[in-house]
Amino acid sequence: SLRVGILISGGGSNMVKLVQSMTGSHPARPCVVLSNRPDAGGLDVARSMGIPTEAVDHRPFGGDRIAFEDELTRRLSYYSPDILCLAGFMRVLSERFVQQWDGRMLNIHPSLLPKYKGLDTHARALASGDSTAGCSVHLVTPALDDGPILGQATVPIHPEDTAQSLAARVLVEEHRLYPQVLSEFVSRLAAGLPIAPADATNYAQAAQKG
Ligand code: GAR
Repeated sequence: SLRVGILISGGGSNMVKLVQSMTGSHPARPCVVLSNRPDAGGLDVARSMGIPTEAVDHRPFGGDRIAFEDELTRRLSYYSPDILCLAGFMRVLSERFVQQWDGRMLNIHPSLLPKYKGLDTHARALASGDSTAGCSVHLVTPALDDGPILGQATVPIHPEDTAQSLAARVLVEEHRLYPQVLSEFVSRLAAGLPIAPADATNYAQAAQKG
């Protein structure tokens, strides 16, 4: 089965859902959970589920993104992941690192991309007066939150919503969407079907209908 490395920075609730989904006939298994924050709560949770963990603190590297990523690559290499899933990983990755994982790195973002790339997505959706919000799973490309969308889920925005209440509603959908998209993505990869951007667009439509 294919091996999935999961990168986190925080509590790791999406990581937990991904790990829990990779059982039985699922074509992938989690091989490592890695955090750039040594104190990330998700590391303890991953260990309690029997998943190996790694921490690569970005702070000692100062601004040297390349050196930080070389260490990421070195640690990940012990586990030979085929696929990386970013799950609340809050470091921007360089073009060089992203190219090394071209077509094999997924991210979940808490907005209906292409809207609200970057941070504070829920506050920005509220400030814009949107009536819906949601989340997107996309292939990672060098431009931030810009890769081909593999699947999206939508939630209503209520008049009394705060960024916090909206985030909680979206998170419920993230937990459903990410395992679903990963499963379909891995199945395609295992079947030797490349996920080129053109294919990914079609795949996104299929995933949304499904
Ligand atoms: C999730 O809402 C995820 O979409 C978001 O961080 C949260 C992580 O929660 N990701 C980003 O904002 C990426 N820029 P989790 O650690 O409980 O999965």
